[in-house]
Amino acid sequence: MGILKCPVCGQELHLEQRVWRCENRHSYDMAKEGYVNLLSAHRSGDAIGDNKEMARSRRDFLNKGWYAPLAQAVTDCLYEYSADGDSVLDICCGEGYYTAYAAERLDRRFYGFDLSKSMVRLAAKRRCGAEFFVANIASIPIRDKAVKAAFHLFAPFHAAEFRRILADDGVILTAIPGKNHLLGLKEILYDKPYLNDEKEPALEGLEVIERIRVQDEITLTDHGDIDALFRMTPYYYHTPTDGMNRLAECDSLSTPIEFVIIVCKRTAE
Ligand SMILES: C[S@@+](CC[C@H](N)C(=O)[O-])C[C@H]1O[C@@H](n2cnc3c(N)ncnc32)[C@H](O)[C@@H]1O
Ligand SMILES: [Zn+2]
Repeated sequence: MGILKCPVCGQELHLEQRVWRCENRHSYDMAKEGYVNLLSAHRSGDAIGDNKEMARSRRDFLNKGWYAPLAQAVTDCLYEYSADGDSVLDICCGEGYYTAYAAERLDRRFYGFDLSKSMVRLAAKRRCGAEFFVANIASIPIRDKAVKAAFHLFAPFHAAEFRRILADDGVILTAIPGKNHLLGLKEILYDKPYLNDEKEPALEGLEVIERIRVQDEITLTDHGDIDALFRMTPYYYHTPTDGMNRLAECDSLSTPIEFVIIVCKRTAE
């Protein structure tokens, strides 16, 4: 049985010759890149999600492997908490780096969605065997309890929807920046760099089973990579001009990267 449901009537969706259909004859064409738009309003989410330029910049940075330790730790964790053939979902998958990393290493049925069509288009172009769709986390077009393992990286959190789609014995992994994450970058940007507070999202209806800390040190020597990293961070939106100027002159950046993966299951009903 498939896990996708019709965003209009909630019936299961079946794929027939590149068209997803429900039994009430609602249909959703697969785009040429292989993804499907399941937003109920059926319009692009780019006005709210990330745009084309951000999508490409994120893809180019992640493809260089700077965050591979996190991708590997997420993959190891999915391996531990799911079995061959299980459905695994990347929530707010962006341009699909982490989806593809895991899909290329594990024998599961991978799905990924994001609100931004530009992101999903790039994800589908990775041809990693996952099924990609455009959707909003506020209303995920997936049947109740259909997902064995989900992961959610650096995106808005929606505990009620995550709980709804998780199987009784399912897990969801989310990641938050660790206290030293990108400290080297912040030392250039700010006179008094602060450590991250490791604040966890509100987990209503979910409870933590395990926390896994991932740490590494990276050195970027290409100014394009330094700039792409900066643009992926919240600091891009509130850094004083003198900090921006210091970064613009920087040809090499060494920084710790640090993440905490939080593994959750449903609380008892
Ligand atoms: C910082 S990116 C992270 C993407 C990916 N998880 C990664 O780590 O590379 C955040 C993503 O959340 C998506 N997003 C924001 N609001 C969303 C929503 N309401 N529903 C689905 N995706 C959303 C954005 O389009 C963007 O791709
Ligand atoms: Zn329908």
